[in-house]
Amino acid sequence: MRVLVVGTGGREAAIGWKLKQDPKVKKIFFARGNASTEEYGENIYEDSIPELVEFATREKVDLTIVGTEAPLVDGIVDEFKAAGLKIFGPNAKAASLEGSKAFSKRFMQDHGIKTAKAQVFEVYQDALDYVKDHKFPLVIKASGLAGGKGVVICETLEEADAVIHDFMIRRIHGDAGIKLVIEEFLQGFEASIICFSNGEELFPCIPVKDYKKVGEGDEGMNTGGMGTVAPSPEFNGMHYADFERNIMLPTLKGLKQENLSFKGFIFFGLMVTAEGSYLLEYNMRLGDPETQVILPLMENSLVDVINDCMEGKPVELKFADKKAVCVVMVSGGYPRNIETGLEIKGTDKVDTLCLLAGARKGGNSYYTTGGRVVNVVGFGETYDDARKQAYDNIKKVSFDYGFYRHDIGLFEQKK
Ligand code: AMP
Ligand code: GLY
Repeated sequence: MRVLVVGTGGREAAIGWKLKQDPKVKKIFFARGNASTEEYGENIYEDSIPELVEFATREKVDLTIVGTEAPLVDGIVDEFKAAGLKIFGPNAKAASLEGSKAFSKRFMQDHGIKTAKAQVFEVYQDALDYVKDHKFPLVIKASGLAGGKGVVICETLEEADAVIHDFMIRRIHGDAGIKLVIEEFLQGFEASIICFSNGEELFPCIPVKDYKKVGEGDEGMNTGGMGTVAPSPEFNGMHYADFERNIMLPTLKGLKQENLSFKGFIFFGLMVTAEGSYLLEYNMRLGDPETQVILPLMENSLVDVINDCMEGKPVELKFADKKAVCVVMVSGGYPRNIETGLEIKGTDKVDTLCLLAGARKGGNSYYTTGGRVVNVVGFGETYDDARKQAYDNIKKVSFDYGFYRHDIGLFEQKK
């Protein structure tokens, strides 16, 4: 098989690492990939959807896997299918469940999917009037894609007014912030559940805990993810049953009723409270850095599972009875302004899975190109063992101003 993977992150490196072990996979292309994917296959620099369609046709690509959300929202699946190419992911309409928070909130409300109470605003003054009458904290979300920076938890009215102004008038996220979703604040722990969809049913992977905040002890700004642990130590069978009943099955029903069924991934971002799980968001793709801990524990062949899903067959996912901990090393200043072009040292000394993300090769060295730079994944029978392996190894990696959280997977000691 010849496979094309679309994306540039640690997630795409994890997909490449997994595909590389599959004897059926003869060639892997990455658009555009990064310093790690170069080791697993060939990075290509075609960017636009028409260029990728042409590339996949010319190179006789048998399967395309889309890692990142923007091309899905822009209709990559529709265009590949129109050209007779096999691609795993939702069409543009179904991808709006991620691309438009106003659309997904309406979908959740219409289909009785348990979610935070919320209202959608298109008029600046209406949003200001609404927050005046509500108690804080309140969560303000840009409806469109904002690279993980479009959600702000506001503690005061002044803060809310400023965020509404930034999003709707100053347009700091461009068109993504013209529409807002303002919702109640929920207290609990978060869990990421990623499912394969075969168009009929959803097949969940092990639940993952993602560390979203930049600072230790979950302080500071939201990020794309500073680390992950699988399986989530908090999400138990009782939580799963509640999620299945109140979120997963109503979602499946809603997808069918609205003709949005698709073959691809669906990622449920949950807040688990004392009253059970609430759905915060859908992503219509694998997570980053969730994938870095899911795929190494998955015992199935990824292409077999995807091929079965594409044919509408049921799949039986199998995961090793082990723990995985991923620690992400990021650039100084992340998630705000970062510097790039800094030399990364020590990755050759890492003796567990090391997946580069915002990194490129230059001669015999690696240089930073983005916010999240290096993912080191440790494994073990216990969380402590997996955590130790991850930290013993990430210690060996360095670049100027680079940092990582020291408390990924530290929950056991807290209890
Ligand atoms: P979202 O993109 O909607 O998942 O939001 C990004 C992050 O903001 C989530 O992962 C949570 O950490 C936080 N968040 C979003 N909505 C809420 C909410 N209603 N209550 C508390 N935190 C939230
Ligand atoms: N780690 C969350 C995401 O991929 O959106």
